[in-house]
Amino acid sequence: MRQAGRAAAQVLDYLTPHVQAGISTSALNDLAHDYITNTLNCIPAPLNYKGFPKSICTSVNHVVCHGIPDDKKLKNGDIINIDITVIKDGWHGDTSKMFLIGQCPAHAIRLCKVAQECMHVGINRVKPGVSLYEIGYAIEQYAKKNYCSSVHEFCGHGIGRDFHEKNFQVLHYGDPDLKSFILREGMTFTIEPMINLGKRHIKILNDEWTVVTKDKSLSAQWEHTLLVTHDGVEILTLRTEEQ
Ligand code: MF3
Ligand code: CO
Ligand code: CO
Repeated sequence: MRQAGRAAAQVLDYLTPHVQAGISTSALNDLAHDYITNTLNCIPAPLNYKGFPKSICTSVNHVVCHGIPDDKKLKNGDIINIDITVIKDGWHGDTSKMFLIGQCPAHAIRLCKVAQECMHVGINRVKPGVSLYEIGYAIEQYAKKNYCSSVHEFCGHGIGRDFHEKNFQVLHYGDPDLKSFILREGMTFTIEPMINLGKRHIKILNDEWTVVTKDKSLSAQWEHTLLVTHDGVEILTLRTEEQ
């Protein structure tokens, strides 16, 4: 899992100098695909996963998640989430971050910052004995305190040999049903809050993948793959800029 996590993080670092106004999201997909397969000797998990047609997810502006790379070019002022999942020797690493394209409006910069802080509010609570309820509750409260909303329909997940583990859903709000889901040493899962500037509600486009905000407000997401250690958490997808 450490190797898979490190590889996923390396893909984001590799893409960074290319994430600029004028490049299409399909060109970013192709760069990532080649790097994942040829340089890292990994498999891009999204490709053909439940029919997903590309190797990465690219979610621009009001797209919440699962954006499909296409020929549209990034432009000055856009915000984009790039979500990378790789399989290394059968194990998954899953991580995403926001990129600001050129000069972005202050509200877009603030949203990206609040979304990253929401992820860290969750990560900072991870240790044995803590419930998933506490983590989700803290994330949504932090979003609300900052005049943002947390998406309810999509969540973090247990991860390992499976991309999305059944019966291990990490909701980014306080669901009382999760009070009995207690973290234990050795568990691996993601925290990946999707945070909107407007209301939390979403809709799915006709391509059956692209998730957008219902009110067309901007949305931002950050994701790490985590390991519960004996007394806390290890971030398996930490990038050099975060170390
Ligand atoms: N990487 C996403 C996640 O964080 C899942 C993408 S599924 C795909 O869970 F099929 F759209 F790639
Ligand atoms: Co994930
Ligand atoms: Co992901």
